[in-house]
Amino acid sequence: MSPDLSIQLAPQNSRGLLLANPVMTASGTFGYGTEYAEFFDIQKLGAIICKATTLEPREGNPQPRLYETASGMLNSIGLQNIGVKALIQEKAPIWADWQVPVIVNIAGDSVEDYAKLAEAMDGVSGISGIEVNISCPNVREGGVLFGIHSRTAARVTSTTRAATSLPVIVKLTPNTDDIVRIAEAVEEAGADAISLINTLKGMAIDIEKRQPAISSIICGLSGPAIKPVALAMVYEVAGMVDIPVIGCGGIYSADDAIEFLMAGASAIQVGSASFSNPRASLDILEGIERFMEKEGIKNLAEIIGAGRG
Ligand SMILES: Cc1cc2nc3c(=O)[nH]c(=O)nc-3n(C[C@H](O)[C@H](O)[C@H](O)COP(=O)(O)O)c2cc1C
Repeated sequence: MSPDLSIQLAPQNSRGLLLANPVMTASGTFGYGTEYAEFFDIQKLGAIICKATTLEPREGNPQPRLYETASGMLNSIGLQNIGVKALIQEKAPIWADWQVPVIVNIAGDSVEDYAKLAEAMDGVSGISGIEVNISCPNVREGGVLFGIHSRTAARVTSTTRAATSLPVIVKLTPNTDDIVRIAEAVEEAGADAISLINTLKGMAIDIEKRQPAISSIICGLSGPAIKPVALAMVYEVAGMVDIPVIGCGGIYSADDAIEFLMAGASAIQVGSASFSNPRASLDILEGIERFMEKEGIKNLAEIIGAGRG
């Protein structure tokens, strides 16, 4: 019998968020899902998280917005997206026919923005959950500003929670001095699950031009370089909260993903890896399955937290 990889990510929510397996795609690295459908059968994934959605469409930051670094990349996309109205009218009807659940990542300039976004998506067929982005380092207002203090993180969470019956995942930033306190605050405020981490603050300078390599100067670092940092934060947070934790940051292989699960994550997100290998998420899922079969593991629960020491 093949191993059972299913996982419930919102056990306290009346709708629940049952995934066939723990492999999700990270927001901003997998478009609206549709873009990747030609590369592999995306319906096999556990869930797709689409790019950040705001109330109004946004063009994002000026170019250059991407820069390759040693074992990683810097980005400053600045929340470029089609806006919630177009998302509901054009994308949700496509997702409604999919087997794979789609979770919408939302971002706002104010607490009220998050409430309006959550309210607009409530009951929309094709949307299975909300990921609250209080961790984007690439916008001037809102974004990470909500995620670096436990009081504001909790306010955004409870306001979003009150505005929708959908499962609410809150995505944390590593750019804070106490991620555990913030995780506890959002759990207390009603989050169904927590995802971490978003990008780390970083920058690069073009020495020929004698100016920053990315237009917004300070931007977000992702990729293999951030994996040990992300793993440590997942380990710390998973040890302190009772809601599911979703690990993200530099996951490029099944072994990386299994490390996060063993640190205490109930699911994982594949981000930058999809840029170098569009089918990275499926490769990772198949690798987890092979590992479980090889080790005689029948159920995902046997791996979650198994490497905490
Ligand atoms: C180009 C790019 C765009 C991103 N856009 C978003 C976004 O819209 N919302 C969000 O919450 N995170 C966004 N992220 C962060 C990723 O979802 C993820 O948290 C981060 O990249 C770390 O994972 P990785 O090292 O596997 O890429 C973005 C990352 C990249 C590289």
